[in-house]
Amino acid sequence: MWWLFYCVLTRYTQLNLIKKTRSMQKTYPIGIRQEKYLTTNLDVIVVDNQHCYAVIALQGAQVLSFIPKKTMPPTDRLWLSRGNQYTINKAIRGGIPLCFPWFGPHSNPNYPSHGFARNKIWQCEDIRLEHDQSHILKFKLGHDEETHAVWPYKFVLELTIHCADTLQLDFKLTNLDTAKFDFTFAWHSYFNVDLSSTEIYGLQGLSYIDQLTNTTNLQSEQFLMIEREVDRIYPQTHGEYVIQSKAVEPIKITTNTESVVVWNPWIEKSKKLSDVIDEDWKNFVCVENGQVATAVQTLDVNQTASYQLNIA
Ligand code: BG6
Repeated sequence: MWWLFYCVLTRYTQLNLIKKTRSMQKTYPIGIRQEKYLTTNLDVIVVDNQHCYAVIALQGAQVLSFIPKKTMPPTDRLWLSRGNQYTINKAIRGGIPLCFPWFGPHSNPNYPSHGFARNKIWQCEDIRLEHDQSHILKFKLGHDEETHAVWPYKFVLELTIHCADTLQLDFKLTNLDTAKFDFTFAWHSYFNVDLSSTEIYGLQGLSYIDQLTNTTNLQSEQFLMIEREVDRIYPQTHGEYVIQSKAVEPIKITTNTESVVVWNPWIEKSKKLSDVIDEDWKNFVCVENGQVATAVQTLDVNQTASYQLNIA
């Protein structure tokens, strides 16, 4: 009798263990896999569907690579530095880091430049395969002790990434606190270009803050060429840009965010950036869409702010 009871109990425990292990293993839709990035320790989700190939790091929910398959030859729209070390809490240079809840340096020099969102590990909440065989991935970042120490608010930030023949990013921020808060943010996109032939359209007639001289100027030229170090904030824009460059298809950007930052470190500044090696500054331009400078946003209690960015 005792023997029978023992056997039933052992079998019951085994079955429960199998069930538990199965529920812990994530299952992904077809075309999705989670792995370590190359030979590094960085956790990434790889999207490989009939429209595109994309790599997204859990750190920062940062898109590292986006290759639409319709362009011939398929070329990465994004630049990713070969000088990254991929160490914990260090921002990844390249792809599309998200700057939040502030843009640029903080008045407290001990706080991370461009906010904490790009350094945190996000939760991948959901991955859906659409009828047209594209994928939608949802990532989430919430407040915790670490974020509270540098930004004392409760919030939830959701980033939805639609990987189709274009890349669509949706930013949704909800204020869960008992007080309203201000925030700025930007998608700090690094685009893969040949800098010497790059022309950026969509900025003519707009006023910009030159961060190198601390002056405000008006852009009269039809397009911007990068011929020296450039660090400009255009606070109010129309949200439509085209980046043209030799050997890559024109990059078309549309967004409902108001501001854009254009940045390239050029020769001297690059030497100070340990994660930009050789002369790799010649291969990217940052066109960073968001709400920065005078476009600072106030979010009331229980309110949600949402913004979109589309890269074609
Ligand atoms: C740009 C800023 O957005 O980011 C620059 O306008 C800054 O001033 C650059 O140098 C890079 O910042 P970081 O923190 O990624 O090295």
